[in-house]
Amino acid sequence: MTLADKIRQLISEAQEKIAAADSAETIEALRVQFLGRKGGLAELTGLLGQIDPAEKPEAGREANRAKNEITALLDARTAAVKASGASGSGAGAAKLDLTLPGTAPATGGLHPITQVVDEICDIFYRLGFQIVSGPEMETDYYNFEALNIPADHSSRDDLATFYLENGKLLRSQTSTVQTRIMEKERPPVKVLAPGRVYRPDATDATHSFMFHQIEGLFVDEKVSFADLKGVLLAFAKQFFGSDVKLRFRPHFFPFTEPSAEVDVSCGLCKGSGCRSCGQKGWLEILGAGMIHPNVLRAVKISPEKYSGFAFGFGVERIAMRRWGVNDIRLFYENDLRFLRQFSA
Ligand code: DAH
Repeated sequence: MTLADKIRQLISEAQEKIAAADSAETIEALRVQFLGRKGGLAELTGLLGQIDPAEKPEAGREANRAKNEITALLDARTAAVKASGASGSGAGAAKLDLTLPGTAPATGGLHPITQVVDEICDIFYRLGFQIVSGPEMETDYYNFEALNIPADHSSRDDLATFYLENGKLLRSQTSTVQTRIMEKERPPVKVLAPGRVYRPDATDATHSFMFHQIEGLFVDEKVSFADLKGVLLAFAKQFFGSDVKLRFRPHFFPFTEPSAEVDVSCGLCKGSGCRSCGQKGWLEILGAGMIHPNVLRAVKISPEKYSGFAFGFGVERIAMRRWGVNDIRLFYENDLRFLRQFSA
């Protein structure tokens, strides 16, 4: 057997042992055994000086190949063992089992109120409304005065609005955004403003000191009540389904004239009355009307030239109706058993 043969034999022995190694420790021991200073390869190359010069070139080449190949095998095996997580040695060490079911990562979901807000915004966005927002800490001017709400109006009472020590207040309606937007933009103005509002109401199944509204506003030349009805019906059909009906009941709001409260037909009984709608057949979802000339005058938009409509949704009410939620407090308690039911 030539020296080259012996080196080739060493390579195959190394291949076999390295393939069977199943821990970092075993692989390290093999590295020493084959490539170490006193290892197998060093021992054989030590004989190079003693052999027939004719055999030297081949033996030299094989020695180089042995070093490269064994090093590559050891490195590859180290990587494989590491990837399978088998750091310990022996039969009990963990192995990667690709047939096991995976572990699903815990993902969050959108809050049901956020889902309803997003969906309503999407529909109005397609109807040409720009989505805007305003501050929750407001001044008396934007919350009341600019909206034509008289100084003696009950909603301006200390018991009906949260007044802050800095002279400001927590807005009690998203209608505040109407004035803020019209101060900055000239008609046509077509916006939707979702957000939180605050009222010092005693908390019960249908009242909360904080809830969500979505305000809509459209001002341009020749905007009519028919436009308001058309837009709200287009929205309602997309949101509640094409067979939905709307009912406009005359109402009073200081910042719109004429004003209406708008009901949608109950999705369950289609208007005939059932437990879900309290036998009424209808559910009130928003207030609306034609913008009062005084509101336009406050932002220096001529009521002679321009007209517009505004509307304000109560988001919680719509969410409660959609999912049959019977207590508004469930939305704010952060109870995952409740919230997980809405994650898509
Ligand atoms: N801001 C009213 C409220 O909180 C809702 C409302 C009524 C908004 C009529 C409007 C409107 O824009 O035109 O009760």
